[in-house]
Amino acid sequence: MRIGILTGGGDCPGLNAAIRAVVKRGTSEHGCSIVGFRNGWQGVIDGDARPLTRDDVSGILVEGGTMLGTARCHPHKVPGGMEAVIDTIANEKLDGLICIGGDGTLKAAGKVSEAAGVPVIGIPKTIDNDVVGTDAAIGFDTAVTVATEAIDRLHSTAESHNRVMVVELMGRHSGWIAVTAGMAGGADIILAPEAPFDIEVIAKKIKHRHRYKNFSIVAVAEGAIPAEGTMWHGGATLDERGNPIAGSIGTEVTKHIEELTGFSTRLTTLGYVQRGGIPTAADRLLATRFGIAAIDAIVRGESHKFTAIQGEHIVLEDFQTMSGKTKWVPQELLEAAWDL
Ligand code: F6P
Repeated sequence: MRIGILTGGGDCPGLNAAIRAVVKRGTSEHGCSIVGFRNGWQGVIDGDARPLTRDDVSGILVEGGTMLGTARCHPHKVPGGMEAVIDTIANEKLDGLICIGGDGTLKAAGKVSEAAGVPVIGIPKTIDNDVVGTDAAIGFDTAVTVATEAIDRLHSTAESHNRVMVVELMGRHSGWIAVTAGMAGGADIILAPEAPFDIEVIAKKIKHRHRYKNFSIVAVAEGAIPAEGTMWHGGATLDERGNPIAGSIGTEVTKHIEELTGFSTRLTTLGYVQRGGIPTAADRLLATRFGIAAIDAIVRGESHKFTAIQGEHIVLEDFQTMSGKTKWVPQELLEAAWDL
């Protein structure tokens, strides 16, 4: 069988581990030929493909990023995109396609699966970890590890300067990184999109804490939202795609905390550091397991599904499970993060 593979959307550590697993398992176990497409769905639209052999993936397990490149491109949103994808699948004589990506890439995979008449299997990847149906997505563990280490480092400088340190973390629509790394790093306040906040309540909580401590750490997801009807309900500044601009909510939260408390307050916007560098062991393992499950599934003739981890088990979920949905941080975890 000839199987195509692409990586779409935001990059993250672990993508290369998944590519490696698909190629090694596919060639050794199933005798497949693997074709890699550059820059996500754009590469499929352009027919920008290259063969992938075991030699090509040797040593990439620990490398961050994606050897294929990626892009935020969804063929069903590009004029003639779906037709071009179907042409490429025919021209490359593909028997199947494996798509590694977040909600946008996987949603497009579902549409291609319906239109192209060849099996399509997705692998969930996003540091935001907001894909419904899977406990974890590739990249999340590494992002949390990087963010936790950053929060650990902020404690010493906050205490030395009697400051409030605000750290803005990625998480466009959900607060998984902020809540997980915030709790792991001992942040005193954690702000997530799932729990719109009242900046005056935040300031009061900080002032109370500073009666016995001289510093505080505030972890804020870039998509965090001030509650309607509160003193300040501005929210983040959005870019042309309607996504929060890095640093905007963090800047506003920092400014309001300093004004309301009188304490010196500084901002660290972690940004793309959370998507760089080598994958943690957990992400390498998850990506490898997903890659094996995806190629095995496509060889079995499965389609319109994505690999998922539920507990310790790797399963397949239909694209419908995640399409158009966001996996929110559960209330129980939000309450634990607030009450700690
Ligand atoms: O979707 C993952 C993510 O890292 C978000 O957390 C972040 O807001 C976004 O990608 C940044 O997108 P881009 O890389 O296109 O600037």
